[in-house]
Amino acid sequence: MDKSLYQPVMWLVLGALIVGLMVVNGWLAWFQRKAMTEACLKDACAQQLRFLKSARFLLWAFIGVLFLGGIASWYTAEYTARKETAAKRKNLWPVYDPAKIWEAPDLFLAQSDDNAKLILYGRQLISNTQDYFGPEGIVRPHSINGLNCQSCHLDAGAKAFGNNYFAVSSTYPLMRARSGTLETIPKRVNDCFERSLNGSALDTTSREMQAIIAYIQFLGTGVPKGAKPKGSGLVEVKPLDRPADPAKGAALYTGKCASCHGSDGQGVAMPDGSGNHYPPLWGARSYNQAAGLFRLSRFAGYIKANMPFGATFENPQLSDEECWDLAAFVNSQPRPEHPFLAADWPKIEKKPYDHPFGPFADSFPEQQHKFGPFEPIIAFQKNLK
Ligand code: HEC
Ligand code: HEC
Repeated sequence: MDKSLYQPVMWLVLGALIVGLMVVNGWLAWFQRKAMTEACLKDACAQQLRFLKSARFLLWAFIGVLFLGGIASWYTAEYTARKETAAKRKNLWPVYDPAKIWEAPDLFLAQSDDNAKLILYGRQLISNTQDYFGPEGIVRPHSINGLNCQSCHLDAGAKAFGNNYFAVSSTYPLMRARSGTLETIPKRVNDCFERSLNGSALDTTSREMQAIIAYIQFLGTGVPKGAKPKGSGLVEVKPLDRPADPAKGAALYTGKCASCHGSDGQGVAMPDGSGNHYPPLWGARSYNQAAGLFRLSRFAGYIKANMPFGATFENPQLSDEECWDLAAFVNSQPRPEHPFLAADWPKIEKKPYDHPFGPFADSFPEQQHKFGPFEPIIAFQKNLK
C-alpha cells in the first residue's frame, strides 16, 4: 500500500473497531438487563450473551494487534526517515579544498539541523534586518539606519567575494588591530551594528545574537580552524598610481549606479512593487565613517565583484580604475561621523594605508590616506615591519 496512506487507513480501521466494541458492549448490557428482568427468556439470552462476549473478545484482540502494529510501523517509518535524512546530510556537506571557491552548505542542511530554528532565524535577521530593527522593527524598532546586513553581505553572506562570512567561524576569536583586542564573533557582529548599520550594539546573550552566530557558524561548517577558504570576504583591487578621482567617480555614478541608488544616493523604490527600496549610499540613513566601506579599498573591492547588482567576481562590470574613482566619489558625500575616533587603532602604526584619519606613523597627509596614491604608503608600511 502507498506508504502515506497506510497510517491513516490503519487508524481509521482502529477507530471503526472501537466503535464496534462500543456497540457490542451496549448490546451486552441490554441483554444482561433483559435476562435479569425477564426470567423466562434466560436460556435464549444466554446463547446471545455467549456470542456477544466472544465478539467482544475478538474485537479487543484486533484492536490490540492493530494498535501495537501501528506503533511499530510508525516507529519504523520515523527511524527510516531519520536514517535517510542523516545519509542525505552526510553527502551534502561541502568538502574543504583550499584550491576551490568555498560554497555555502546547502540550505537543506540548515533546515534539517537540530538547531534549525535558530540558524534560519539568523539568516532572516541578516537578509531582512529592517523587519527586526528598522523603523517598524519587531525586535527593536528605529535602532539602525536604512540598510540590511545583506545590503553589504550579499546572499545573506553566502556569495563568493560578496563580503561573505565563510572565514568567520574558522578564524574567530581573532586579534584585531582596529580595537587592539581579541575579538569574538558577537563583538565583530556588534561592530557592524554600530558602524555599518550606524546603530547600537545587540545584547550578546539575546536570541537574535545567538541566531546570527549560529547562522554564521553554519556557513563555515567544515572549514578547518585557521583556514580562510578561497572566495571569502572581498576581492583586492590593485591600487592606482594616481589619487582616486571623485569627479570621475561622479560621472560614472550617474551612468552606472544612479538608476538604483538614486541621483541623490538615497536609493529608489524597487520596480517589483514590493515597497522595498535599493539601499542608500550616503546621507543620514547610510553607514558611518567608522564602517569598513568608508575605506576606499574595501568599497572598491566590494563593488568590483558585486556592483552594478548582478556582477560577480567572474563577471565584473567595472574596471579597477572605475572602482577606485566611484569609491572616492561615494565616500566624499556626507554621512554620519566616526563615533570611535579616539578608541580605534590604539597602535597608530597598525592603521591600514587607506584609513583616512590621522595621526599616522608616517608623514603622508590625510588626503593621501584617503584617496591615494597608496603604493608609497604600502611600501613605507612594509619597511616598518
Ligand atoms: C554598510 C555595509 C555593511 C553592513 C550593512 C553590514 N556589514 Fe558586516 N562588514 C562590512 C564590511 C565592509 C566588513 C569588513 C570586510 C573586510 O574588511 O574585508 C564587514 C565584516 C563583517 C564581519 C567579519 C567578517 C570577517 O570575515 O572577518 C561580520 C561577522 C559581519 N560583518 C557581520 C555583519 C552583520 C551580522 C551585519 C548586520 C547586523 C552586518 N555585518 C552589516 C560591511 C557591512
Ligand atoms: C540594478 C540595481 C543596482 C545598480 C545599478 C547598482 N546597485 Fe548597488 N546595490 C543594489 C542592491 C539591490 C544592493 C543591496 C543588495 C541586497 O540587498 O541584496 C546594493 C548595494 C550596494 C552597496 C552596499 C550597501 C549600501 O547601500 O551601502 C554599495 C556600496 C553599492 N550597492 C554600490 C553601488 C555602486 C557604486 C553602483 C554603480 C557602479 C551600484 N551599486 C549599482 C542594486 C544596484
